[in-house]
Amino acid sequence: MPTVEENYAFWNDRFDWSNHRGDVWSREWGGPTNQWYWCVYPRIRRQLPTGTILEIGPGQGRWTHFLLPYCERLVLVDISHRCIEVCRDRFGKAAVECHVGDGRTLSFQEDESVDFVFSFESLVHTEILDLTSYLKEVARVLKPKGRAFLHHSNLGHYPRYYGLVNGIPGSLRTTLQGRGVLDFDGWRALSVSAEKVRRGAEQEQLTVHSQELVPWGGKRLIDCFTSLGKGTAAETKVYENHEFAERAREVKTISDAYEIR
Ligand SMILES: C[S@@+](CC[C@H](N)C(=O)[O-])C[C@H]1O[C@@H](n2cnc3c(N)ncnc32)[C@H](O)[C@@H]1O
Repeated sequence: MPTVEENYAFWNDRFDWSNHRGDVWSREWGGPTNQWYWCVYPRIRRQLPTGTILEIGPGQGRWTHFLLPYCERLVLVDISHRCIEVCRDRFGKAAVECHVGDGRTLSFQEDESVDFVFSFESLVHTEILDLTSYLKEVARVLKPKGRAFLHHSNLGHYPRYYGLVNGIPGSLRTTLQGRGVLDFDGWRALSVSAEKVRRGAEQEQLTVHSQELVPWGGKRLIDCFTSLGKGTAAETKVYENHEFAERAREVKTISDAYEIR
C-alpha cells in the first residue's frame, strides 16, 4: 500500500533519475516523443491548446516538456523537492510555476483558475483517500468548463487475484512474475479502482466523460485514464483497451524502421 510518505521516500530519495529524467519509462514506445504523439497527445488533444494547465506529479518533466507549447501558464506540483528543483532548472522559473505539494491537496491554487489538470504515470501509486482528496481539489480549482485527464490505478478491480499473488513467498512470486505466469502489480494502489474514482468524482459534482482501462506490464487492466470535467452529467464511456501494449510495440517498430526518435 503506497502512502504519500513512501512515495516521497522512493521518488525523492531512493530512485536514480540520473541521466534519463524518466525517459526510460517510454522505451516500449521507442522514446518519450513517440509516446507523446501516439499515446498521450491523441487522448488529450481536444483540451489543447489552452490557458492554464496544472500537472500533478511531473517528475523531472517528461510530459511537461510537451505540454509547455500548448498553454499560456503551466503549474507543476510534485511531492518530491528534488524533482521540482530539476523542473525549475530544466524549464526556467519564467516558463513554469513550481510547487512542492503534500500529495493530497492543491492549496496553492486559487478556485476556478485552471483549464486543464493533467497527470500521467504518477497517481497510479496514490491510494483512494489521497486520490479522492485530489478530486475534491480538482473540482475546486477547475474553471466552469475545465477538464482533467488523470492516470490512476485500477488494481482494486482485482483484489482476490492480487491478494493471492501477494500471499506467495517473495522469491517464488518474483520468479513466476518474471516468467509471465503471474502479473506484476507495478506498485499500483490496491484501494483504487476505476469505479471508485468515478463515484468519488461524481460526489464532487464532476462529470466523468470516459474511462479507458489499460494493462501495464501484464494481462490485467491495472491502470485507468479518467477524463472528467465540470458540468452536467453525461454518460461515462468505459473502454477496455486490451491492445494498449501491442499498440506500443507497433509504434516502436515504426520508429525503429524509420529511425524516428
Ligand atoms: C513514476 S514518476 C512519473 C513522473 C512523470 N509523470 C513521468 O511520467 O515521467 C512519479 C512521480 O509522481 C510523484 N508523485 C507520487 N505521488 C504523488 C502525489 N500524491 N502527488 C504529487 N506527486 C506525486 C513522484 O514524486 C514522482 O515524481
